[in-house]
Amino acid sequence: MRAVGVFPGKQSIEVIDIPDEKIENDRDVRIHVLDVGICGTDREIARFQYGSPPAGSDYLVLGHEGLAEVVEVGAAVSEFQPGDLVVPLVRYPCPHAWCGPCRMNRADFCLSGDFTERGIKMRHGFMRPHLIERPEFLAKVPKDLRDFAVLTEPLTIAEKAFGETGRILERLPWFPETERPQPLKVRGDSRALVIGAGPMGLLGAMRLRVAGYRTFVYSLEPPESLNAKLAAEAGCEYMSAKVFELNQIQKRIEHIDLVYEATGASRIAFAVLKYLGDNGIMIFTGVPALGQPIPLDADAIMRNLVLRNQLVFGTVNAGHDDYERAIHSLGEFHRRWPRILRSMIAGRYGLELVPDLLRQRPPGIKHVVQPGH
Ligand code: BGC
Ligand code: ZN
Repeated sequence: MRAVGVFPGKQSIEVIDIPDEKIENDRDVRIHVLDVGICGTDREIARFQYGSPPAGSDYLVLGHEGLAEVVEVGAAVSEFQPGDLVVPLVRYPCPHAWCGPCRMNRADFCLSGDFTERGIKMRHGFMRPHLIERPEFLAKVPKDLRDFAVLTEPLTIAEKAFGETGRILERLPWFPETERPQPLKVRGDSRALVIGAGPMGLLGAMRLRVAGYRTFVYSLEPPESLNAKLAAEAGCEYMSAKVFELNQIQKRIEHIDLVYEATGASRIAFAVLKYLGDNGIMIFTGVPALGQPIPLDADAIMRNLVLRNQLVFGTVNAGHDDYERAIHSLGEFHRRWPRILRSMIAGRYGLELVPDLLRQRPPGIKHVVQPGH
């Protein structure tokens, strides 16, 4: 079968022919890949700056944002049946008995660093028509989400982040034990700032709207861009970096209770940190390329962290529960804003176009590959 292979050794990206995978074990599930999203991580891997092939292979099959259909199940699989739609997980646990998180199926908190990741780290990904997966690494998707469920994986990052946020906010003494929408809010009129209006930023912003946050989105795209329009359609207040200086952000928002950083731009992220409000939380999700050190208003930031009970945390990957929550949230987004998810998907392409798509980024928000087409 055909697959997109990244060869770090000879620095090339090629559509190659690889052996098909057949059911060999009674807990195997054979899936047919329908959609694979392309993201910044794929582009970094395609520049040979990140990622690695499986042991013994000179190439890595790319693709970690997947949506697939179950085509065949082993004799001992009762969770899935042919025809089911599924999103496969990215990260596999490390092998070490001492790694508590991996042994509890939370490889997203792996302590050894010896986890593997589909399409990223030492495990082939989804840019091929078929593969074998185990039920524990699949999350079921309702059929009516077929057209957008490829957005599940980027949304799992937000679900994990906001799950953590909710638990952190339980430190505040005034929440009633009953109703606890996640994420919790610092105050009744909580305001969140999302940095970046790409797929990650928009999905995070929609999730915050569902939780009842007044949500601001700050990003490079001009006010007339599709990204800005979709943010506004979800009820967010869009602030273009072309119009607003960073120091105007706080005046406009007044109290920034939560920041969801989704660009990996360290200069902007640390400048925004200075404006975080009382008891505020800032979440880092973007992975910057390692560059030169930048100047930082460290005294102001440190004073605020202490005097305002602030908390900054980073988060990577997600657990199975986060996939289920993300699928649930996608359904909610679809009910509330029927046009947004559809507009986020710029186009669907065959495998042979992937090397070009990775080199030059066409306009639009999320580009999707259809390996099984
Ligand atoms: C993926 C994560 C992964 C991370 C680090 C991201 O693009 O969404 O699942 O853990 O890259 O490799
Ligand atoms: Zn990704």
